[in-house]
Amino acid sequence: MQLIDGKMISEQVKQEIAVEVAEIVAKGGKRPHLAAILVGHDGGSETYVAAKVKACEVCGFKSSLIRYEADVTEEELLAKVRELNDDPDVDGFIVQLPLPKHISEQKVIETIDYRKDVDGFHPINVGRMSIGLPCYVSATPNGIIELLRRYNIETKGKKCVILGRSNIVGKPMASLMMQKRYPGDSTVTVCHSHSADLKEECRKADIIIAALGQPNFVTADMVKDGVVIIDVGTTRVPDATRKSGFKLTGDVKFDEVAEKCSFITPVPGGVGPMTIVSLMKNTLLAGKKEIYK
Ligand code: GUN
Repeated sequence: MQLIDGKMISEQVKQEIAVEVAEIVAKGGKRPHLAAILVGHDGGSETYVAAKVKACEVCGFKSSLIRYEADVTEEELLAKVRELNDDPDVDGFIVQLPLPKHISEQKVIETIDYRKDVDGFHPINVGRMSIGLPCYVSATPNGIIELLRRYNIETKGKKCVILGRSNIVGKPMASLMMQKRYPGDSTVTVCHSHSADLKEECRKADIIIAALGQPNFVTADMVKDGVVIIDVGTTRVPDATRKSGFKLTGDVKFDEVAEKCSFITPVPGGVGPMTIVSLMKNTLLAGKKEIYK
């Protein structure tokens, strides 16, 4: 069994980005600029955004953090989105989700100029990805693709089972794993809460990408020997023995599943660190105007 070290790969990719940014700046080019909008004080969102700002520093990007209280109106937020769309100094920006209930996330996403949508959530980017055109691919799926590539994991002709059909992980992951290139060319099955034979589908899988958000859902009896496991789960399970009060727990029962795997991602330290790196890669592409002029 080989552990897929997302933490190590993420540090490596950030260093590669930093080298490229230094070269761009040395040649008189513009330092890429990522802006992030954070609404309210959700614990998870605070942590993610702080990590994104820190990663920008490591990569040599300029970053701006724009904060609103949870009672900001939808119109006020949309006005800021439009302002960032029109700001030539901002190459790309994100609005951290989830948003308070009185604000339509979809409306916010669709107001972002797709050319600055480094989260890859805008329907134009999602659509372009699904037909294999250059676009911003969303962070988690892109991070997983990068891990498969860096570990030279075979995907062509493999049976890939994806657990979960969310718009930000399951669905784009299915598109990417079936695309006509490496990593891809897999035979993809998407399982979800209404799948009748989920366990049996998993037992047939060469690759399982678990993104259900149900801690310890995948057990040893559900996987075959030699399987590749990518665990996207990051549920905060209460744990009084920890200073934080919780333990980040994946969708896979690691201790019993790992010994059957050829490759497996740990939680934490697997997919998680790669998501932020994907955002950094998209920001670099945005800075270079490599996808959209
Ligand atoms: N909330 C959880 N993941 C993400 C992400 O990738 N981008 C944004 N904007 N919000 C998130």
